[in-house]
Amino acid sequence: MTKLRSRIAGCGSYAPAKVLSNRDLEEIVETSDAWITTRTGIRERRITLDEKTYEVASKAAKEALKSAGVAARDLDVIITGTVTPDMVFPSTSCFVQSTIGARSGIPAFDVSAACSGFLYALDIADKYVRSGAANKVLVIGVDIFSRIIDWTDRSTCVLFGDGAGAVVLTATRGKSCILSSHIHSDGRYWDMLYVPGAIDSNPFEKRPSKQKPHVRMKGNETFKIAVRTMSRAAKEVLEFNGLKPEDIALLIPHQANIRIVNATKERLKLTDDQVFSNIDRYGNTSAASIPLALDEAVRNRRIKRGDIVIFVSFGGGLTWASAAVRW
Ligand code: ACO
Repeated sequence: MTKLRSRIAGCGSYAPAKVLSNRDLEEIVETSDAWITTRTGIRERRITLDEKTYEVASKAAKEALKSAGVAARDLDVIITGTVTPDMVFPSTSCFVQSTIGARSGIPAFDVSAACSGFLYALDIADKYVRSGAANKVLVIGVDIFSRIIDWTDRSTCVLFGDGAGAVVLTATRGKSCILSSHIHSDGRYWDMLYVPGAIDSNPFEKRPSKQKPHVRMKGNETFKIAVRTMSRAAKEVLEFNGLKPEDIALLIPHQANIRIVNATKERLKLTDDQVFSNIDRYGNTSAASIPLALDEAVRNRRIKRGDIVIFVSFGGGLTWASAAVRW
């Protein structure tokens, strides 16, 4: 009998209504629309004013459930990739579980892998389904980076935006399925990109937290590693499945910087039509980046049944990941 696999039965996304343009940023830090556009490809990003992470995530989740034709009460597992939860605990997934009306008792948990969070969550979800432990899994990527940005630091505050994307995986023995997923990390490079913790107390010492929980990034080094890692991750998933770059109908890379996306495209010798990007309108939305782009690609009919879709990501940790899907 054909092996049990998971397929993406539906997807959804949500981005807050408030647009923060490059021009708006010119009023906040010493920067220019021209610098941001040429160096990053970003023109604007969405920013939450008062929405919680779980609310943004739940909106994307409801869209994904609707598009999959799956009821929240039929979900077996909820997994969320995020590094900006509303609380240290409970997890975002637990809040989503009660918000969307999923059953009590199912496992619901978060995964911390920065910009690779969605692909990490997808990898775990796929393994749940392949093992027969779950039939229907909700996978979410959500981040609200506006909360962890130092809005006086022009080298980071222009890069990020807020949003969420979600998919529903269902068990299948058909041809449309997740072919494989691959997740990796290398903690030696943790200081390329990190947010120092706000949790900093002990019973014997009364002192204010030394470091603010803001994004710190070695931009240049991160850029170079990202270019190398993204193309390597894409090659890994292609080779694993006996595929060639020309077999890719659509590559959906993590949207960190259009120059990283273009370098990945060039290293794989792909055409413009084979690569999806919406970074101009959303910036880097961390764990939300890939599912937000996927949802837009599906809605714009850029993906049709039978297409090979490749996801590839890179983020703090360092983490990197890839997945191949036959749509
Ligand atoms: N506006 C104007 N000038 C700026 C700005 C700004 N917003 N930011 C930096 N500059 C200046 C710098 O001060 C520097 O000036 P100097 O030459 O006088 O010193 C100059 O511009 C060049 O700065 P660089 O840092 O060398 O610029 P670079 O071309 O490397 O672009 C960037 C910076 C966009 C941050 C790039 O390095 C990058 O994209 N890095 C990777 C980001 C990334 O992929 N992150 C990982 C994923 S995120 C995650 O996992 C959560």
